[in-house]
Amino acid sequence: MALLEGKKGIIFGALDDKSIAWHIAEKCHKHGAQMVLTNAPPALRMGKIQGLGEKIDAPVIPADATSMEDLEALIRQSMEHFGGQIDFVLHSIGMSINVRKKRAYTDLNHEWMQKTFDISAISFHKVLQLLYNMDAMKAGGSILALSYMAAQRVFPGYNEMAESKALLESFARSFGYHFAVKNAVRVNTVSQSPTVTTAGSGVKGFSDFFGYADVMSPLGNADADSCADYCVTLFSDMTRMVTMQNLYHDGGFSSMGMNPALMHLIKE
Ligand SMILES: NC(=O)c1ccc[n+]([C@@H]2O[C@H](COP(=O)([O-])OP(=O)(O)OC[C@H]3O[C@@H](n4cnc5c(N)ncnc54)[C@H](O)[C@@H]3O)[C@@H](O)[C@H]2O)c1
Repeated sequence: MALLEGKKGIIFGALDDKSIAWHIAEKCHKHGAQMVLTNAPPALRMGKIQGLGEKIDAPVIPADATSMEDLEALIRQSMEHFGGQIDFVLHSIGMSINVRKKRAYTDLNHEWMQKTFDISAISFHKVLQLLYNMDAMKAGGSILALSYMAAQRVFPGYNEMAESKALLESFARSFGYHFAVKNAVRVNTVSQSPTVTTAGSGVKGFSDFFGYADVMSPLGNADADSCADYCVTLFSDMTRMVTMQNLYHDGGFSSMGMNPALMHLIKE
């Protein structure tokens, strides 16, 4: 089964083999896709993305996702590499200095907050706008960004990343309209379970929360590998009528009110 045979995509955000984007790139490769990998220049120096590039035969092009110049060059070079338009794009980018420095939500540095929004959410609008104006997406293509349920509900340790994800999801809905009308390109966000990665583990209380979500979700937490499977379907033609959605990939967590398995643990 090769759901992405002949398709060409850009993957943002593979840092190391824990990264969700790393799993998605490997899975897309298995399904027959050709890809360009990209990350910020410091991540290229510190991470292991070159190794992934060699493994799946994908060029690695540096781009700071907050820079329109870098993104424009990335899209142009990707189209040159592919010899034409792009079928799918994954935005898998998140960073907050306030989270890194463990600032409380009630005592945030607002310059850092703007940086968080710029890197984690506005970068998505920049990518969408350039893809749109450069006519870079093939008709019926698919664009995804990774989100988290703190956009809808309160998870105190997630800090300002909650608002960042709310903005990200809103960009997917609003731009999804314009892309659908232009050439049937789909734009969605995937709201993923807590996953052990560099960005995920930086969230305060992550390991306790990871265990809590695992018990609360009737299927358990969805891991990066299953997220990759889901993203392959969303990049494929099988989901060609799905757009402007925030799609939960969380083992059922988002629909739970109370789970007896958790009550049982609390009573112990
Ligand atoms: N790990 C989780 O629990 C979890 C859950 C739901 C959603 N997500 C989301 O998944 C996405 C990927 O995160 P991850 O968990 O795989 O962690 P990760 O740390 O592996 O990936 C984050 C990536 O963002 C990149 N990045 C940061 N600043 C950048 C910039 N200026 N330009 C370009 N790239 C930049 C990093 O280099 C890194 O590759 C993020 O959007 C994250 O919020 C993660």
